[in-house]
Order: sequence, then structure tokens, then C-alpha cells
Amino acid sequence: INYQTAKFITSAPNIRKLPDDTGIEIAFAGRSNAGKSSALNTLTRQKSLARTSKTPGRTQLINVFELDTGERLIDLPGYGFAKVPMAVKEQWQQALSEYLQKRESLKGIVVLMDIRHPFKETDQELIYWAVSSDIPVLALLTKADKLKQGARKNIVLKARQAAIAFNGDVQVEAFSSLKKFGVDKVEAKLNQWFGY
Ligand code: GTP
Ligand code: MG
Repeated sequence: INYQTAKFITSAPNIRKLPDDTGIEIAFAGRSNAGKSSALNTLTRQKSLARTSKTPGRTQLINVFELDTGERLIDLPGYGFAKVPMAVKEQWQQALSEYLQKRESLKGIVVLMDIRHPFKETDQELIYWAVSSDIPVLALLTKADKLKQGARKNIVLKARQAAIAFNGDVQVEAFSSLKKFGVDKVEAKLNQWFGY
């Protein structure tokens, strides 16, 4: 499967504006600024497929990308960012929870968490929700380049221990868009979810 073929399809404010709920899609979710859009760009080897920003809250719509073979990748708005007007925040948090609960074609979730503070409360809620809906999770500890190798390995081991508590299909890997670590793990997992 060639992730480089990903093309932007649409930005939807809610699930009714998404493409038909058929086939398979995989969503990238996580706190604002965790590195979701950067990870999508890294996976697809495209510099600016998904818009990234230093300012948290950049992605406010459900962005849909499609591969030449028809599978979709979804860049979700981040959660947990305080400095956004309440009305905007409510609208997009609502879109997010609706998407996660109703989208039939959603077959896997990549949960991105900054390696320096993984498994915040909302991340845990999301993972518990996924496990209870039988949706597999790939938990990526992002910005892994920020730590030295020893510290990184320790955190990954601890996070894997912590992930056992979810009692579901939750794989934990370190990832860096900057240094391109973990890209092979993401590709392998997505290939599996897409059925290749
Ligand atoms: P929202 O759309 O606001 O929810 O954020 P996002 O999760 O899509 O994050 P985004 O990819 O826009 O990245 C946020 C910031 O983190 C940007 O300044 C990125 O350059 C930086 N960043 C992303 N990935 C990495 C990484 O692997 N290493 C380092 N050092 N910085 C990264
Ligand atoms: Mg984003």
C-alpha cells in the first residue's frame, strides 16, 4: 500500500458532511499539538498534506485524505486545548465524539501523545472508548526526538506496561516526525488494519 498517494478530499465540520460511510478509514486523534498532522505528513511523505502549526488548535475540522486504493486517513481536531472560544470548542468536540461513535468505516485509531506526557485523562477516555467499541489502537508517543535514547526506551516500556490496563488491542510505539522514527511501525499497523 502506497501512502504517498494520499490526496486531500474534504474538510468536514460534522459527520454528515463526510464522504459515504463505506470502505475502511483510520483516524489520527490526540490532544492539540500532539503532532497528528505532522505524523500524517510523515507517513504520506508529503510536506504539507495536512496543515501543521506551532499554535495548538490548528486542525478544527475533520480532514479527509484518500489513497489511490480507496482507503481513507482522517486528521481529527485535537482535544484538550483551553485557549479556544467556548462555542468553537464545543462545536468541534461534538464533531469529534460523534465521529468516533457513529462512523462505521472507522477500523483503527492512531492516538498520538507527546512522549513527555502520555496518557492524559482525555487520551485514556478515548482509548477506553475504542477498546469498548472493539476498535484497535496504535498509541504513538510523538516527538520522541526530544528525549535521549535511554529515557525514550524507559518511557516506551512504562507506557507499554500502562497500556495493559486498557485490556484491549493497544500497541505502543515511539514516533518522531522530525527524525522519522517509528514510521515503519505505523505503516505495518495500518497495512494490517486496511487488510493488506
Ligand atoms: P492540532 O491540529 O492543533 O490538534 O495539532 P496537531 O496534533 O496536528 O500537531 P501538529 O502536527 O500541527 O504539530 C504541532 C507542533 O509540534 C508543530 O510545531 C510541529 O512542528 C511539532 N512537532 C510535530 N511532530 C514533531 C516531532 O516529531 N518532533 C518535534 N520535535 N516536533 C514535532
Ligand atoms: Mg493538526
